[in-house]
Amino acid sequence: MELRDAIAARRTTNGPFLPDPVSAEHQRVLVEVAGRAPSQLNSQPWRFVLVESRSTIEEVARISGESMTTAMGNGTFFERYKRWFRFSAEEMERTRSGMLFDKLPAPLRPFTHQVFTRRGQRVVNALRVPQTLGEQNRKLVAGSPLLLGVMLDRGEYRPGELSAFYSVFSMGAAMENLWLTTTELGLGIQFVSFPMEVEGAWQRIVELLAVPDDLELMAVYRIGHLPEQARRPVIDWSSSERKRVSQYVFREDCRTPQEGWDAR
Ligand SMILES: Cc1cc2nc3c(=O)[nH]c(=O)nc-3n(C[C@H](O)[C@H](O)[C@H](O)COP(=O)(O)O)c2cc1C
Repeated sequence: MELRDAIAARRTTNGPFLPDPVSAEHQRVLVEVAGRAPSQLNSQPWRFVLVESRSTIEEVARISGESMTTAMGNGTFFERYKRWFRFSAEEMERTRSGMLFDKLPAPLRPFTHQVFTRRGQRVVNALRVPQTLGEQNRKLVAGSPLLLGVMLDRGEYRPGELSAFYSVFSMGAAMENLWLTTTELGLGIQFVSFPMEVEGAWQRIVELLAVPDDLELMAVYRIGHLPEQARRPVIDWSSSERKRVSQYVFREDCRTPQEGWDAR
């Protein structure tokens, strides 16, 4: 697969994976390409933990599902991220960013524009959307053959210092190598991030993975083989749009957007 084809084809997987295990060979390739990433002074501050144990994956799934139900039910998730939620193709075309919720159960559709209001939240809770999404999320994570924990060496990752920016930047570069390579290997990948949204939930995963004090758990991903026909979850979104070049690139200085390079 050509690099730019992998970049164009790279996606986040919202749907279920096949139960088939990810081969040791593929796992080795994923962490090797991650390790080839650039880092400040070649410090390589990243650390990874590969998890295939069913009991650990199911426990992470439980924590993730519960966290989603909590964050959706108390409105913190909507409040935090509402500016990125889109409910029409027109809105997506106009903004060319965010998440388009293009798959919603019929009872919920009439309320899409109220979902960020107190009344909307009451309707969402009355329709048990937080529980539906939480259980959907638990099943997605529990059905994953592999979890990947990403950590940073606290000797390098010192929040408030320049080294923290460098470490997170390097971790991002390592993850992009890995994410792109999942595309080449026919694998899918998605953040398991709801435990980050709820007080105490992330610490439960830190303990479950026995993360030592000199490492900081930064992210958890679910990874697996993609089914031929991707079955979309009950509530689903798409986010393949990107801004036009003129919306994020300048020429010579930041007063002059780069013109003439926008895709037709
Ligand atoms: C820092 C970061 C956090 C993210 N958190 C989540 C997440 O919690 N759940 C999820 O499904 N995707 C998450 N994503 C994936 C983005 O939603 C996704 O990259 C974006 O919508 C573009 O879609 P694409 O990856 O399919 O191109 C995250 C991506 C990044 C870089």
